[in-house]
Amino acid sequence: MGDRRSTQSPSPVALRIRPMSAAELAASARRIAHCVDQQVVVLQNPTEGSNDALRASRTRQKSYLFDVVFDSTATQETVYHGTTQGLVAVVTSGCNATIFTYGSTGCGKTYTMLGTDGELGICARTLAELFQTIEDSSSDVEYEVSLSYLEIYNEMIRDLLSPSLGCLQLREDASGHVQVAGLTKVPATNTDEVMQLLARGNRHRMQEPTAANCTSSRSHAMLQVIVCQRHRGRELRHGHLCMIDLAGSERAAQTQNRGQRMKEGAHINRSLLALGNCIKALSQQASSKYVNYRDSKLTRLLKDSLRGNSHTVMIAHISPASTAFEESRSTLAYAQRAKNICTTVEQGALPPFCPTP
Ligand SMILES: Nc1ncnc2c1ncn2[C@@H]1O[C@H](COP(=O)(O)OP(=O)(O)OP(=O)(O)O)[C@@H](O)[C@H]1O
Ligand SMILES: [Mg+2]
Repeated sequence: MGDRRSTQSPSPVALRIRPMSAAELAASARRIAHCVDQQVVVLQNPTEGSNDALRASRTRQKSYLFDVVFDSTATQETVYHGTTQGLVAVVTSGCNATIFTYGSTGCGKTYTMLGTDGELGICARTLAELFQTIEDSSSDVEYEVSLSYLEIYNEMIRDLLSPSLGCLQLREDASGHVQVAGLTKVPATNTDEVMQLLARGNRHRMQEPTAANCTSSRSHAMLQVIVCQRHRGRELRHGHLCMIDLAGSERAAQTQNRGQRMKEGAHINRSLLALGNCIKALSQQASSKYVNYRDSKLTRLLKDSLRGNSHTVMIAHISPASTAFEESRSTLAYAQRAKNICTTVEQGALPPFCPTP
């Protein structure tokens, strides 16, 4: 393994505003979220009004600063370049990287992460770039790439590449690193192969229509790409890239969910709350801060990505519509807190989570 170096880096937080949906336009929703420049977004409160002009402008809108913001005209390519592109170099240099999407249901997380056949998302673009980098690299170095893909559905971990394995358990080794017992790790040698694996995994992922989103993700999905480099049989370094499409927070009234959908929503909200609590604790400056990762499988799996050992990027998503004001305000506050987190990245360090053999 190569020499170990560690660097401290703040976790970049990006914000993407999706276009107005047909349903929002049909409900005559107004656009209340606007990008002021490449880093600032303003959210107007559509309900507050005042005759006092000074007070009105103070209370009716709030601005939020991010590392980068994308308005509803941003292409998939622009979002990829602005958030993720540098992470391939991080991973091939032997460090770990994590990227995850956050936001309420129907705001475009899966669109950003997976995209469509014509508008490829971050996962496909990253994998294509990784294999291109490998192809362009020196012939002395051999690369081994392998993939694992899991989902957390109703607090159960399922292997999306081998769904017949059933519910997998989390284990923690002596040094506190979380492992998923029995998770399949599939070797891959080119982009076509990984795209097929990804498509296979996505077919098994829990997705159901709700009133808020006709293609709503009912689970958190985590794709891990492990890149190992060897020179004449000796391991030089390895890096891990973790790409996560979170399920969206949802309000029962908005989704009109009942039965199974409601139960899923409760699990989703609970795990996102646990993640929010970790983000809040990590963003506080006190050195004695206590961070409770044990409240959900999501936070246990994300422990290393959040507290260190990983360059971590978050892309928060909101709708621009006046009808989504409460959700947007809460996502912006959540994402703003995440901006204060710092991670310490070690070269050749253990992965954000590792499958056991
Ligand atoms: N930037 C965008 N441009 C065009 N269409 C978009 C964009 N973002 C989202 N959409 C469309 O909006 C709908 C909802 O998006 P998506 O399924 O990605 O939401 P989500 O945040 O993953 O929701 P959930 O939390 O319910 O899984 C989809 O039909 C998607 O194609
Ligand atoms: Mg989704």
